[in-house]
Amino acid sequence: MPTMADVARSAGVSVATVSHVLNGTRPVLPHTRQAVLDAVDALGYTPNTLARSLVTSRTRSIGLAVSAISNPYFTEILQGVEAAALEAGYSLLIADPHDDPRHERKVVQLLHERRVDGMIVAPSAEPHDLVGYLGRHTVPTVFLDRLIDPRVPAPFFDQVCSESAEPTARLVTHLAGLGHRRIGLVAGLPGLSTTGERIAGYLDGLGAAGLGHDERLLVTGNSESAGAERATDALLALPDAPTALVTANNAMTIGALRALRRRGMSVPEDIALCCFDDFAWADLFSPRLTAVAQPSRELGAQAVRMLLDRLAEPDRPSRTVRLPCAFMHRASCGCPEEAGRTEEPGRTPSPKPSEKGTDS
Ligand code: HPA
Repeated sequence: MPTMADVARSAGVSVATVSHVLNGTRPVLPHTRQAVLDAVDALGYTPNTLARSLVTSRTRSIGLAVSAISNPYFTEILQGVEAAALEAGYSLLIADPHDDPRHERKVVQLLHERRVDGMIVAPSAEPHDLVGYLGRHTVPTVFLDRLIDPRVPAPFFDQVCSESAEPTARLVTHLAGLGHRRIGLVAGLPGLSTTGERIAGYLDGLGAAGLGHDERLLVTGNSESAGAERATDALLALPDAPTALVTANNAMTIGALRALRRRGMSVPEDIALCCFDDFAWADLFSPRLTAVAQPSRELGAQAVRMLLDRLAEPDRPSRTVRLPCAFMHRASCGCPEEAGRTEEPGRTPSPKPSEKGTDS
């Protein structure tokens, strides 16, 4: 295996110069730089990042722990994380905690033992062990998508997520504006901040539309398709079943559609449907789905930026950044299909983040 010293000898420069060229730590004259790169090519030199880590105590790697990576929402987050990490010269170690608090704690420990420089984690509904572990070991961490309860002391943690309440309220008031008086919500897994905020948004929307809250219309689909199918069945079995449905994530939309299909019900003729989460193929559904689109790739990229900021400045105050969603007004709500109507540009919105320090 050729070494850095071999490259230096072949290019006629010092080992320090080779290091500056390869790590971008100092400007090097163009012809010297080219001589180093030519020598690297000719010798087939590959830097030994393990050796570098021993010197710098940094591995230039990020641990990413996100559940349900097969869900397109999380897949897009992952793409955003990967692209931003790569651009900054970081590699990724990925784990799926399966939304299970014990498994979550275990995979995060494994990532930490691999000495990642920091972590991006979408926490489960019971993240106490996880937060305790990360806190004890002062692992720089950005929580993604689900917020940690603000009462948990987390001085060096940052958080990033989409707005959830206001966009859900918008779906409800939109349906109310179309004349619906009985609007059901298929909500997510209890304990997740996204679930709580979407329920709060549903209640806000009902309030803003002057509609009372019938508890029987709020059911839990546990954030997944099978749970939502059962929950939708329960809603449809009510003597005064809802005439419109809001589903609180993409997987639950699929479950709700299955339940409707089994009963031979059509959207929007028999029941109107509005969804949280857009799909890459939502415009192929018939009718096209009226949905809230989360800026998933941007969430991932923002998480990386926040982690790099924290690595550069470990004592900076904690931040919580929220990115806005886009309302994709299509036809499953019962509005007539009109080409090009108020879909905000692009499938995912270009976000202007709102930010607050959690210390303040
Ligand atoms: N959080 C937010 N949005 C989502 C989720 C989630 O866990 N799953 C699908 N869309």
